Amino acid sequence: MSTGKEKILVIGAGGQIGVELCENLAKRYSNAQVIASDLKPAPQLEPYNYEQLDALDKDRLFEIVKKHQITQIYHLAALLSATGEQKPMMAWKLNMESLFHVLDLAKEKHIQKVYWPSSIAVFGPTTPRENTPQYTVMEPSTIYGISKQAGERWCEWYHQKHGVDVRSLRYPGLIGWKSAPGGGTTDYAVHIFHEALKTGRYECFLSAQTALPMMHMEDAIRATIEIMHAPFESIKIRGSYNLSGISFTPEQMANEIKAHLPNFSITYKPDFRQAIADSWPKSIDDREARQHWGWKEQYDLKGLVKNMLDNLKK
Ligand code: NAD
Ligand code: SER
Repeated sequence: MSTGKEKILVIGAGGQIGVELCENLAKRYSNAQVIASDLKPAPQLEPYNYEQLDALDKDRLFEIVKKHQITQIYHLAALLSATGEQKPMMAWKLNMESLFHVLDLAKEKHIQKVYWPSSIAVFGPTTPRENTPQYTVMEPSTIYGISKQAGERWCEWYHQKHGVDVRSLRYPGLIGWKSAPGGGTTDYAVHIFHEALKTGRYECFLSAQTALPMMHMEDAIRATIEIMHAPFESIKIRGSYNLSGISFTPEQMANEIKAHLPNFSITYKPDFRQAIADSWPKSIDDREARQHWGWKEQYDLKGLVKNMLDNLKK
C-alpha cells in the first residue's frame, strides 16, 4: 500500500491502545498523516493533529473526516468490561452507536478502510475454555461482551451487504508500559508491575489460578497494523479474528516478577471482576489469523515481564 496519501483518524486515541497505536502509525506514515481524537487531549498525542471528538457525535465525526480528507479510521473508543458492567446502558450506547457512525462513513465511501477491535469478551461461560476456537458457542455474559459480539456481526454484515473493508481482532488482555489500562478485567496484569516497583507488593482482584489470554502491547499493535496492511483477499473473516499471545495466571506472573524482584509479594482479594474472568477463555486457538495473514506473536511470559520491568524502571 502506498503510504503517501493516507490520512488516518484514530478515535479514542488517548487510551491504553491509542497512544501506542498513534506512535506506530506515525512511524509508518508520518505525524502529519495521523489525526488523533478523543474526548480530551493527552500529552502523548501532542506530536499529531488533534481533534476533540465525542464518538457519539456523528456530525462532528463527518466534519473531521471532510476537513482532513480521512482515508482510514481506527475506532478504539469504548467502555471496557469492568466499567461496562457498572454503566451498562452507557456501554451499550457508546460501543454500538459509535461503530454505526464509522461503518456508515465507509458504506457511503467517505473513507476506504475501518479497524475496529473486538475482544475475548465475546465468549461466555458456555464456551469451551481451553484453546477456544474461532467458531464456537458464544453466549457472552457482560454488556461489553454482548456489544462486541453484536459489533462483530454488524461488521460482517456491512462487509457482505455494502462492501465495507472492515478488519477486526479479538484482542486478549493487553499489557504495555507506555499507557494505563482503562477499566478492564485484565488490568491487574499492568497494575502489578507498577505496584511491584513502587511498593514491592500487590493485591490482585482476581484469584491466583485465574488463567486468561494476554498479549504484550507491542505484539497487539503489530497485529493491528499487519491486518490493516494485509491484501484485501487474505482477510477472509470480516467479523473478527481470534488472536493469541500468552496465557497465564496471576500466580505465574507473580512468580516471574519474583525472579527479578525477590522481595515482591502478592495477595489475592477477588472482586466482581472474578466472575467476568471466569466466563472468559483460558487460552485461544488463533489458527485462522496465522493461516490467512501470517500472524505470529513475539513475546512469551518471560520476555514480557523482563520488558515491562526494564522499561518501567527507566
Ligand atoms: P481505554 O479505555 O484505555 O481507551 C478508550 C479511549 O476512548 C479513552 O481515551 C477514552 O477517553 C476514549 N473515549 C471514551 N468515550 C469516548 C467518546 N464518547 N468519544 C471519544 N472517545 C471516547 O481502552 P483501550 O484499552 O485503549 O481499548 C481500545 C479498544 O480496544 C476498545 O474498543 C476495547 O474494547 C478494545 N480492547 C482492549 C483490550 C485491552 O486489553 N486494552 C482488550 C480487548 C479489546
Ligand atoms: N482487556 C479487556 C477487558 O478486560 C478485554 O476486552 O475488558
